[in-house]
Amino acid sequence: MRGVIVTGAGGGMGRAIAEAFAKAGDKVLVADLNEAGLAQTVAAIEAAGGSAIAQRANVSQEADVAALVETAKQRFGRLDVMVNNAAILGPWVPIHEQSAEALDAVLGVNVKGVVFGMKHALLAMRAAGRGAIVNIASVQGVRVVYPGAAFYAASKSAVVALTRAAALENGSSNIRVNAIAPGPIDTPMLRAAAGDAWPPAIVGDVPLGRLGMPEDIAKAVFWLAGDEAAYVSGALLAVDGGFLAP
Ligand SMILES: NC(=O)c1ccc[n+]([C@@H]2O[C@H](COP(=O)([O-])OP(=O)(O)OC[C@H]3O[C@@H](n4cnc5c(N)ncnc54)[C@H](O)[C@@H]3O)[C@@H](O)[C@H]2O)c1
Repeated sequence: MRGVIVTGAGGGMGRAIAEAFAKAGDKVLVADLNEAGLAQTVAAIEAAGGSAIAQRANVSQEADVAALVETAKQRFGRLDVMVNNAAILGPWVPIHEQSAEALDAVLGVNVKGVVFGMKHALLAMRAAGRGAIVNIASVQGVRVVYPGAAFYAASKSAVVALTRAAALENGSSNIRVNAIAPGPIDTPMLRAAAGDAWPPAIVGDVPLGRLGMPEDIAKAVFWLAGDEAAYVSGALLAVDGGFLAP
């Protein structure tokens, strides 16, 4: 049994990630701003025979993230896995139409949220002498594809760099840090961004010819966090149906 935290687990792929760990018998702390979504995640996990607790957290607030790690230590007695998944898209407009407020919001959740998640997980993991962190980046952190997503793409590039830096700094403490670059995954975020244009326009960019499902990402996160990936650190794993291949 491992102690696991998943942020942004009130829906979308965060919920599927939490379910994957719970199915394996791990104790999962699910965190989100969306408390109704969290209740649904816990209910789904419990209905499947698993165990999860929920805690509201705004990942852009360091105190909220520190409190998550405290809860995991108190309730589970350990923190083995931290999955920094929560993120927002921000306004989908070109840079010259963007605002300082939008920049603060996107970087606040997508970059500061990952920094805070890593920092407080690392403090606990370094004390324990083991751990694994998985950050959810994006194919857009590697290749800027869609006009209007500049802040989001920049935030996801930052997640890749932060992942590599943390892997470098913590390998000798027996802590692995990796990132996943999802391609287009069928979640509320994608549906909100793509609107009526989805899925044909997006599927056309995917060599495998389909959108990914949240479970496609959950399986990869589960693998990266576990002993099967014992020699993998600082990696960016594309789980994208071949999106980045061209
Ligand atoms: N869906 C895709 O196609 C896609 C592609 C590449 C990367 N991603 C990344 O995958 C991750 C999950 O995305 P998703 O598609 O499931 O999105 P989603 O919007 O469906 O879910 C994200 C969750 O994060 C929560 N959240 C937002 N701001 C928060 C905050 N400040 N504090 C705590 N929780 C907060 C939301 O309430 C929501 O439950 C994100 O990092 C996203 O950038 C998604």
